[in-house]
Amino acid sequence: MRKKIVAANWKMNLTKKEALYIYDKLEEIQLEENQEVIVFSPYVFLDALKQRQHHIKVGAQNFHPAAQGAYTGKVSINHLLDLEIECVLVGHSERRILFNESDEVIKLKIDVAVNNKLETIFCCGEPLEIREQGKHSSYVLQQMESNLFHLTPEQMKSIIIAYEPVWAIGTGKTATAQQAEEMHRFIRMSIEHRYGKATAENISILYGGSCNPGNAAELFACENIDGGLIGGASLNAEDFTKIIQAQ
Ligand code: PGA
Repeated sequence: MRKKIVAANWKMNLTKKEALYIYDKLEEIQLEENQEVIVFSPYVFLDALKQRQHHIKVGAQNFHPAAQGAYTGKVSINHLLDLEIECVLVGHSERRILFNESDEVIKLKIDVAVNNKLETIFCCGEPLEIREQGKHSSYVLQQMESNLFHLTPEQMKSIIIAYEPVWAIGTGKTATAQQAEEMHRFIRMSIEHRYGKATAENISILYGGSCNPGNAAELFACENIDGGLIGGASLNAEDFTKIIQAQ
C-alpha cells in the first residue's frame, strides 16, 4: 500500500524558536501506520530539529549537486547525510523560476539524492499560461521525461511526486479536487506506461498549491491524491495539524 504523506515546506520563514515549537507540536499527533509527515526546514534549523529525535521526518529544501568543494555558501548532500537528514525536495517551481534551475541540474540533483538513498520529493507542475492553453498534461509529462524517467524502477522507489500547479502556489488559488485528481491520474498513468503497474501503484503523488485546512479533506479524498506539500499553511502548527488530520 502506498504511503500517505503530508509535508511542510517552510521555505525561507520562521525563527528557530517558532520552528522548534511547530515541530514539537507535530510530535503529539497520532499517525496511522502508513502515514508519514515530513518537515522541510531552512538549513539553519536542521540540526536542532534532528536533535529532538522525533518520529516526524526532517528534510532539506535544497542542496548543491557536488559532493564537496569550493562553492561558497552552498550545502552538499554529504552535509545533509552527516545530520541524518532523510528527505530532500528537488525541482520546486521557486527554484526553477527564481534560481534558474535547469532540467539538467534537476536531473543531476535527482541522481545525487537517489544514489544516496534519500527520500526525494520531485516537484512538477505547469504555469498559468500553459494551463490556459490546455497543454498542462504534456507540459508535466515533459518535466517527468526530462528530469525523472531516466531512473531505473529500483531507483524510482525513492521518489515521491508533488504535483504543484505554479498558478496555485502561494496565491490562495487552489486547483479544484477534480483538476488535481485529473492530473494525478495522468501522472500515475504516465509512470505506469514507463515503469509498469506495480511502480505506478506504489508511488505517492502529493498535491501542492494553497492547500489549507478548508480544502485538504476534499483533495485527499481523491483516489490518486496521496497527501500534500504545504507551504503557507504549514507555518502555523494548528492549521498544519488540521491538514494532517484531514487524511
Ligand atoms: P503554498 O506552497 O501551500 O503556500 O501554496 C506550496 C509549495 O510551494 O510547496
